[in-house]
Amino acid sequence: MSAELRAYLFAHPVAHTLSPVIHRAALAAVGMHGSYRPEDVAPQDLAARLLALRAEALNPLTVGANLSLPHKVAALPLLDGLTPAARAIGAVNTLYWEDGQLLGDNTDAPGLQAALRDAGFAPDQASQAVLLGAGGAARAALWVLRDWGIPAQILNRTLGRAEALAEEWATPSWTVEAARPEEVDWSAVRLIINASSAGLDRPEETPLLLSAAQWEALPAGALVYDIVYRPRLTRLRRDAEQHGCRSEGGLGMLAHQAALAFRRWTGAEVSAGVLIEAAQAELGRSA
Ligand SMILES: NC(=O)c1ccc[n+]([C@@H]2O[C@H](COP(=O)([O-])OP(=O)(O)OC[C@H]3O[C@@H](n4cnc5c(N)ncnc54)[C@H](OP(=O)(O)O)[C@@H]3O)[C@@H](O)[C@H]2O)c1
Repeated sequence: MSAELRAYLFAHPVAHTLSPVIHRAALAAVGMHGSYRPEDVAPQDLAARLLALRAEALNPLTVGANLSLPHKVAALPLLDGLTPAARAIGAVNTLYWEDGQLLGDNTDAPGLQAALRDAGFAPDQASQAVLLGAGGAARAALWVLRDWGIPAQILNRTLGRAEALAEEWATPSWTVEAARPEEVDWSAVRLIINASSAGLDRPEETPLLLSAAQWEALPAGALVYDIVYRPRLTRLRRDAEQHGCRSEGGLGMLAHQAALAFRRWTGAEVSAGVLIEAAQAELGRSA
């Protein structure tokens, strides 16, 4: 295809994003031409920017946009409709056109689900998961755990936020509760997901301080998935690996959510592995 596709990223700030590199790699991988344009959009300017985007609705080459912090929730009332995942999570990261309507999807959640599978996690309703964090990314993780039917405990720095989240997400057929670390039966936990921002650009910070005995109580093969990917090896991952747990960082989620957005916009499938390589190269350059 020789036509120039166009997609945007609206975020604030936007400077350190890896998404342009990832989407350029996606275009190259499938032999398409186009641009992915990051724009710093302040919160008070989002409505006007989406109105301007709507003016491009008739241009088939403008395929959509990604939204990142702080717009993922604020955009909801500005759209014509939401996918079921976006509605359940209450946040959108991908905007696309359908029959002239501007719709919102959430590819973070299925992106995380795919990354967990890549990391060798086999969903098993008999095991427990621990979720760290109670913000937007935690909502995507709850969608994954509920979809798999894996009972979960939410640990968060501010316990009240974890309690509110558990109350909102629990269903008659799926258990989720807020907990403190000392209330968790670590011997039943096969998956720990860090969906908090602890550790982001701060190598010594961790959202979970466990004793050696608690780490060692985790079953063999337990996985710690840290959605933070900068630094590559967070303190949480180092602690986990030191005590014999498997760990994985958040680049897989980032790559899969991008591949899913790219498929929405172009219909083309791109392998997450190619996108992870592009992101790793960029991280190496900026380290
Ligand atoms: N890999 C990916 O593709 C991907 C996708 C989306 C997001 N992310 C990452 O996910 C992280 C969370 O994003 P978000 O949108 O959920 O942010 P958010 O809504 O601001 O929530 C932040 C969460 O982190 C907790 N937290 C912050 N600093 C902490 C600390 N020092 N110790 C313990 N807990 C701390 C907060 O606890 P309180 O409630 O106590 O404030 C809150 O639960 C970010 O690092 C983001 O970059 C990665």
